[in-house]
Amino acid sequence: MDRILIRGGNRLSGRLPISGAKNAALTLMPCALLTDEPVTLRNLPRLADVDGFGHLLNQLGASTSIEGTRPEDFGRVMTIRAGKLTSTEAPYDIVRKMRASILVLGPILARAGVATVSLPGGCAIGNRPIDLHLKALEAIGAEIEMAAGYVRASAPGGRLPGGRFSFPIVSVGATENVVMAAATARGTSVIENAAREPEIVDLCNCLVAMGAHIDGIGTERLEIEGVDRLHGATYAVMPDRIEAGSYACAAAITGGSLELVGVKAADMRATIDALVEAGVSVAETKDGIRVSADGRLRPLTLSTAPYPGFATDMQAQFMAMLCRADGASVLTETIFENRYMHVPELARMGADIQVRGRTAVVRGVDHMAGAQVMATDLRASMSLILAGLAAEGETQVSRVYHLDRGYERLEEKLQAVGADIERASDG
Ligand code: EPZ
Repeated sequence: MDRILIRGGNRLSGRLPISGAKNAALTLMPCALLTDEPVTLRNLPRLADVDGFGHLLNQLGASTSIEGTRPEDFGRVMTIRAGKLTSTEAPYDIVRKMRASILVLGPILARAGVATVSLPGGCAIGNRPIDLHLKALEAIGAEIEMAAGYVRASAPGGRLPGGRFSFPIVSVGATENVVMAAATARGTSVIENAAREPEIVDLCNCLVAMGAHIDGIGTERLEIEGVDRLHGATYAVMPDRIEAGSYACAAAITGGSLELVGVKAADMRATIDALVEAGVSVAETKDGIRVSADGRLRPLTLSTAPYPGFATDMQAQFMAMLCRADGASVLTETIFENRYMHVPELARMGADIQVRGRTAVVRGVDHMAGAQVMATDLRASMSLILAGLAAEGETQVSRVYHLDRGYERLEEKLQAVGADIERASDG
């Protein structure tokens, strides 16, 4: 397994390219299952999860071809051709490795009238049930049965009738699944309390480019008039607002100045507002945003919330940054029940953090010391990288396969802006 070694203390400065958004790519790729025509996605990030999803699509009978990009380029062009599905099943050995596989449930059901998908199981940050995915699909006419760890969904008469569903809590993935399934339903569907993340907007815009009829895009009420068929399209994946927020924290924690190229400030307002409240300056540029800090950070009180609130995917990164603030910060994680796995690892580097239930009190410390630490989940591993960038001495982060799921060429991007960072392979 690979490790990442960081010798901290360098102020980062320069331009850093932001890749296509992982959490948009993972819902745009299954859209290709909804049509027998080719769907071309541009600005696709080179990530383990994107490769994994491509493998799942291949298992279902879709071909995935990468075109026209040199290895050194960021952003791949992938054409997905699902002329016909040779399977309607997403097997356990794939789904257990990548929970986002559940996002083929709605599209396969809509395309083939039946879908069998393994239950994803839990993960490091929580048990992450899929009950809302199933309730929403039932509300638009799916018949759902569970057997031996699999979900089997079917559409009576082979086509979903459509319907209405109001989410009791906001769910990004469940919103994505039901929107994709409703796009070719016989009738109209109304989804209330839908997730409003920019990745949902990207999904809706891609479906509209494929011929879907969706009103209320970007709001919590989506009205989807089912169409008989969707056609192919070419669509560019939005820039990754979480990757950008993560590197903004890198500028903040090192007292540096980075221009994050390609990201849209409008996608990450809550992150920008929190950075500014912490004393970091953020300015929009023609190419993205510039994030600059002078090394002093103010403490914050933050609660994660569904978009447009402060993103749960930014909590671990802000915690690392706030370890260097002048005072005590209070972070409350309201979305996942176990998203503090980075705390004991940060403590090994000298952080002073107390966790009680969903709330963490982070007392700023004058310095942190490099140490051997272990990544546990994607965003937790980024928080360890951030702490390592500011720590004295060398930090070794193990199990970096977690990082490779969501950060394209991380050490290359950080080296280019002055970080002393390298990847070592354990063979
Ligand atoms: C998506 O996960 C993202 N993943 C997550 O990013 C992100 O943290 C999360 O949305 C919240 O923004 C992808 O887009 C691939 P949810 P998802 O359904 O869809 C509960 C990262 O680091 N819930 O919005 O799984 C759930 O347990 C990853 O990039 C149910 O109870 O999240 C959680 O408490 C991590 N029943 C809350 O809702 C359900 O059927 C929000 O989950 C579904 C969810």
